[in-house]
Amino acid sequence: MAKGNAPERGGKGVFFCSQCGTELVHWAGRCPECREWDTVVAAPRAAAAAKGRSGEGQAAALAPEDRARPLSEIPEPDLSGRVKVPLNELARVLGGSLVPGSAVLVAGDPGVGKSTLLLELAEKLARAGSRCLYASSEESAAQTRLRARRLGAASPELLVLARSGLSDILAECRRLAPAVVVVDSIQMTWSPEFPGAAGSVSQVRQCAGALIREVKESGAALFLVGHVTKEGSIAGPRVLEHMVDTVLCFEPAGQGAYRQLRAVKNRFGPTDEVGFFEMTEAGLAEIPEPSELLLGERGVLRPGAAAFPALGGSRILLVEIQALAAPAAEGYSHRRAAGLDANRLYMLLAVLARRGGLQLAGCDVFANAAGGLSVSEPAADLPLAAAVTSSLRERPISPQLALAGEVGLGGELRAVPRAAERVREAARHGFNRIILPRASARSVAGAERIEVIGAASLVEALDQALA
Ligand code: TYD
Ligand code: MG
Repeated sequence: MAKGNAPERGGKGVFFCSQCGTELVHWAGRCPECREWDTVVAAPRAAAAAKGRSGEGQAAALAPEDRARPLSEIPEPDLSGRVKVPLNELARVLGGSLVPGSAVLVAGDPGVGKSTLLLELAEKLARAGSRCLYASSEESAAQTRLRARRLGAASPELLVLARSGLSDILAECRRLAPAVVVVDSIQMTWSPEFPGAAGSVSQVRQCAGALIREVKESGAALFLVGHVTKEGSIAGPRVLEHMVDTVLCFEPAGQGAYRQLRAVKNRFGPTDEVGFFEMTEAGLAEIPEPSELLLGERGVLRPGAAAFPALGGSRILLVEIQALAAPAAEGYSHRRAAGLDANRLYMLLAVLARRGGLQLAGCDVFANAAGGLSVSEPAADLPLAAAVTSSLRERPISPQLALAGEVGLGGELRAVPRAAERVREAARHGFNRIILPRASARSVAGAERIEVIGAASLVEALDQALA
């Protein structure tokens, strides 16, 4: 951004950050909100108006409707007209409905299915009567037509624009006044007004900023597709994450065609929900019962596997926690965790060695939450400790047994939240026993079709699990 802003430094005009939109009374080299350098510019109209009025060095006067006022006097927005998200697994992650004027970034590796997901969403919305503009800057209209044929999409309210020019997309937004705008992808959207080639940080940032400002004014909901770079960040150094209201990550889950969608940021909804899909010949199919996928093949006795009823937002997901503990081939041993907190693994190994008498010195230990789910809650301690012990002793845990419990440094078991729901969900998936911390087991009264076993310590729980 031009250093030409600097001469106005200290002026009394109205400035705003071209990146995040924060308004400032003074020019600043760095936006205090998003912490980006050289993004603060003078707001043309407000600055001119302020100049007229602030000849004697007064602060810029605000229009009456813009002045600060008591919170209680601000009318509540009418949310009745909010558009419901017609895909359940996406609705779960977004928080139910689309917020007018909001911007959602859908990020993921090339080929994961972002275009398919958003074309499916646009078609379903269009079929329900919301006009959608799908601006495809990567594929031709014919290619989008081919994809649409696989999805059975043909709604007249779904309008496809195959242009990568920012001004073309903005012009069509204004002409068509759509309720939903999809820009696929932001890295391929380009404007000659900004420096750099398509996909450069400045192009991505400026184009996204212009699109976000457009929908803030029109009230449309904006979806931006963003490719994850090789380094794993979205469009370079995470430039888009704080500009948008919601960031969704679309990733492979488990093997093959399964996908998971989760929010890493969400101004209007939850961030702990995970949506599951399967890529089929006819687009993405939703998976309303992801536990079947996360548990893998049941009924086979394998040492080192323990079933864990995990919190997955509003639902409970049954996940297989896996461990492999084996004598290290080389001089020193490896400890690795995938989808689990490595620090908790190290702590558990220390507790197992000290309190459980496990001989872990000289052993490699690998731990994994199967299916690609990321499990961070302490309640996963007990199934993880059980999986490690099961692997080291080569004694399988019954496939009908589930476990949940936080392990303390003294080897004690601590209560887990939402124990009753975990028990109910384990029973629903055919588990006939569940081991919980004693305090949690007591709180679960009269569970049906499942035996609830309360254990006071890790050693007691492991005795039960590997009996
Ligand atoms: P795509 O949505 O193009 O991914 P992205 O936009 O994230 O790059 O999907 C890519 C893959 O999905 C591609 O390999 C083809 C496959 N696919 C299906 O298997 N079934 C379908 O119905 C569609 C449309 C795509
Ligand atoms: Mg694509």
